[in-house]
Amino acid sequence: MKQDFEPKPGRQMRLGVFVQTPGHHVGGWRHPDATVEGWPNLGLMQHIAATAERGKFDMFFLGDGFATGYGEHPSTIGKFEPLTLLAALAMGTKKLGLAATASTTYAEPYHVARGFASLDHISGGRVGWNVVTTAYAKSSAVFGRQHPPHAERYAMAEEFVEACRLLWDSWDDDAFIGDKKAGQFVRPGSLHIPDFRGKYFTIEGALNVPRSPQGHPVLIQAGSSGPGQALAARIADVVFTAQNDLGEAQAFYAGMKAQLLEQGRGADEALVMPGVMPVVGRTEREACEIFAELNRNIDTAQAFTVLSERLGADMSVHPLDGPVPDIPETEHLKSRAALLLQMARRENLTLRELFHRVAAARGHLLPIGTPVQIADVLERWFRDGAADGFNVMPPFFPRQFDDFVKLVVPILQERGLFRADYTGATLRDHLGLARKRIAAR
Ligand SMILES: Cc1cc2nc3c(=O)[nH]c(=O)nc-3n(C[C@H](O)[C@H](O)[C@H](O)COP(=O)(O)O)c2cc1C
Repeated sequence: MKQDFEPKPGRQMRLGVFVQTPGHHVGGWRHPDATVEGWPNLGLMQHIAATAERGKFDMFFLGDGFATGYGEHPSTIGKFEPLTLLAALAMGTKKLGLAATASTTYAEPYHVARGFASLDHISGGRVGWNVVTTAYAKSSAVFGRQHPPHAERYAMAEEFVEACRLLWDSWDDDAFIGDKKAGQFVRPGSLHIPDFRGKYFTIEGALNVPRSPQGHPVLIQAGSSGPGQALAARIADVVFTAQNDLGEAQAFYAGMKAQLLEQGRGADEALVMPGVMPVVGRTEREACEIFAELNRNIDTAQAFTVLSERLGADMSVHPLDGPVPDIPETEHLKSRAALLLQMARRENLTLRELFHRVAAARGHLLPIGTPVQIADVLERWFRDGAADGFNVMPPFFPRQFDDFVKLVVPILQERGLFRADYTGATLRDHLGLARKRIAAR
């Protein structure tokens, strides 16, 4: 595919592990090798972080949302609050990047800016924030508010991020001098009180956290609609996306890079990392058996909930073995619904077949095979202009992630596609991104 920019020679892929325990696959938790005891199980999280660091991963990523209930995906029913968990994991890891979702629709910029700045200090500069607008209306229940429409959520997100950036720049880098002789704890003139007046947020005070090691945490953006991509082009260091077709992934990648250039940014200033659910087996047959077993463990009633949620309409009223009906665009997650409907049309899927795909990987890339076959898919997408790296989404934890690190990572390393060791200290270092400097005041 033609691109307006040249990838750097010797470029290597980035890898994150998208941690949704007990597993991304709806039936993953029922696999004999999935851990489900002692929920939410800190030991399991520590094991995954240690495994990711042994595998030289760029980051450990925790998604987040607010809804719970019987029919929810097992990974969302009961879980840790992300920032407190990352603080615990920061103490047991040295190099691994630690990223989490925080919503711009259901939070205050001050709380989010403070939490991530503090974590950046605690971890020595290893933190990333996945900026999401929270797609699902049901998230509003615990806040007692109306769920804002899509366009308004993105307008709020633009202001939210701007406010956070100003808060992070409240203090100069060299503000906290602790000069005992002169009696100056902070350097005079080093405080710059933000004055931000938006439609949704107003900030007239400074952040009481010194400027953090990375300047700003790494900013990740995960919405792929038009407004989502526009926000990413302006603010993101990393773009998470769901893609399952090489051609469409290439088009998304090229489009994202073009928008970066339009914003006056470099094409490699934001890294595109599609999600991938690798089902790894020692043999192709074993991988297929693992996948078949996972699919046998899907509860149809639960998968209907997941499918309805992803498409933004009640799917249980349609026959499972009939064609996928036309569904008008909704106010929820526009890009993912469009991706799933496109996949259904392209592959002529029935509703049952589509729901199996959604229950498995929610529309993300789903390679099933030997370590070499999985590595081949990742290499192809990486080399052919579809990805700068991948957000690995194991179908269940810990076994499938252990196997990915033990069996697939060494192949990527042998091929020179992935680092043999860390060369820097911060998440920005791992990603090849510069420390965030304070914009001219
Ligand atoms: C890898 C990945 C991770 C995501 N993590 C979250 C999350 O933790 N919480 C959330 O509310 N949305 C999450 N999303 C969803 C996006 O933020 C967004 O709502 C969705 O992709 C729809 O985007 P759109 O509204 O721009 O179409 C994630 C998306 C991707 C691709």
